[in-house]
Amino acid sequence: MELFLMLGPMPVQTTSITKLCKTSTIVTVNGMYPGPTIYAREDDRVIVKVTNLTPYNLSIHWHGVRQRLTCWFDGPAYITQCPIQAGQSFTYKFTLLNQRGTLFWHAHISWLRATVHGPLIIYPKQGGSYPFQTPFQEHVIVLGEYWLQDIQELEKHVKDSGGAPPGSDAYIFNGHPGPLHNCSKSDVYSVDVTKRKTYLLRIINTALNMEHFFGVANHSMTVVEADGEYTKPFNTSFLMLTPGQTYNVLITADQPNGKYYMAMAPYMPAKRVPFLNKTSYAILNYIESSKLDSLSPIESNMSVQKSSPERSLVPYKPILPCVNDSDSVQAFTGQIRSLHPNEHWSPIDVPLKIDKSLFFAIGLNVFSCSSSDPDKCQGPNGGVFAASVNNITFKRPMVSLLNAYYNNLEGYYTADFPDKPEKMYDFVNEAPNNIGVDTQPVIGTQVSVLEYGWTVQVIFQDTGTIGTENHPIHLHGFSFYLLGSGIGNFNSTTAALNLYDPPYRNTVGVPAAGWAVIRFRADNPGVWFMHCHLEVHTTWGLSMAFLVKDGKGKMQTLPPPPPDHPFC
Ligand code: C2O
Repeated sequence: MELFLMLGPMPVQTTSITKLCKTSTIVTVNGMYPGPTIYAREDDRVIVKVTNLTPYNLSIHWHGVRQRLTCWFDGPAYITQCPIQAGQSFTYKFTLLNQRGTLFWHAHISWLRATVHGPLIIYPKQGGSYPFQTPFQEHVIVLGEYWLQDIQELEKHVKDSGGAPPGSDAYIFNGHPGPLHNCSKSDVYSVDVTKRKTYLLRIINTALNMEHFFGVANHSMTVVEADGEYTKPFNTSFLMLTPGQTYNVLITADQPNGKYYMAMAPYMPAKRVPFLNKTSYAILNYIESSKLDSLSPIESNMSVQKSSPERSLVPYKPILPCVNDSDSVQAFTGQIRSLHPNEHWSPIDVPLKIDKSLFFAIGLNVFSCSSSDPDKCQGPNGGVFAASVNNITFKRPMVSLLNAYYNNLEGYYTADFPDKPEKMYDFVNEAPNNIGVDTQPVIGTQVSVLEYGWTVQVIFQDTGTIGTENHPIHLHGFSFYLLGSGIGNFNSTTAALNLYDPPYRNTVGVPAAGWAVIRFRADNPGVWFMHCHLEVHTTWGLSMAFLVKDGKGKMQTLPPPPPDHPFC
């Protein structure tokens, strides 16, 4: 059954906000930061009219929505649409076909995603249920980064300087930095819980340029979903979420009454990258029930003790891995498995035969600086930062790629994105070009063309050309099976790949100085962006696009664009 969910209009506007002792103007949706939550059910049709009341060009992406036959509504500016210009509107229409779980939406142009984002929660179909214990309550926790500086100015400054962006000013929970920043004592996100109840936390990392650990003091979490797909439940004391990743966890209020910190701390495996090395906190707050644990004398004694004033005034802090603890990250991500292959919620259908085999070397580069002004050459060795896939820095075209493809417009892109790097070398320790110090990529707007229905394998390999880093690679239009990941140069004879119950994700953290292997079925025609979800890396060019051709059968052809599709 098709349901209609009318969430309009959704004006994007500038709003004044005061945080960390400073008032600034930010771009918001409906004046909210984070933006409004969209609630839907599996298979719902979603219709959202976006009206741009800001002076900037804008588009909205529905991160994790697979957009079956609706590529025109996917949202990345200059990939599937021209931006919505100031004063204009565009109505996004798509169906959440066979999708459930925690996803989100965000601006997909420049760095406006910093403040223009919000949750997209998809409940099971009417009458359906979760494949785990029904929680007492659910809470959505949007992790983000807050800058005091105007984000558009910051972006411009970073682009002009050729250097790395400064760290943000605070990490935030649902817009709140928590008690340990300037002027933030009462700017705290807090969740009330009742003893012995179980809660579902839907955690979304919307941060711009940082990956984060998340944990709750004294409470273990049971992961039940990743990127909007159910997982085999497993217990953990922490999560690591890259920007673009979401997790659903169950947490039971099984501790003595009191206050417990939830923490959000940076994960930064790269060296020499400026970032904010500061943990932010929110609070898990036990509400004492009126019966005050009078169930047994022992228990009630305990709770009187534990809820003594000092305990509730100074919450416990969770212990999270160190800022560069990649081993813990690998150990965590290695536990994520799809729910049992035979579960009807998540039938596993890993392609076993590969039609298109790709090897993508991903990482950072440096151009030599063409300016004599040192302020414009702030990259490593007086150069200008860039990033690439197979040593190609993606350049956005002037029209949308999808428009150029659909209307056969010549000259905007070429269809020759290379299947592998020009040469294979020691990716982790060397640079790609002949001269040891030549770290320059080439600039191009190339797509990789896939026939409808092809099964595709991509081996991602982080490069150490400039410095290794955990790159969260996000694919639009598809979820993919993550077969495995590891450290070092990918080696097909030693790499252990999971073909049995790999997680089905939309964003994979390719480990610093490591590799990851994904597979997907190219059964959705259109042009699909794939990029690093660290926004600055997308700015620098760590992206490419797949062009998936129409198939011959029914429901295998991309329909024409909607009449209100924005013009460039
Ligand atoms: Cu969440 Cu292309 O992005």
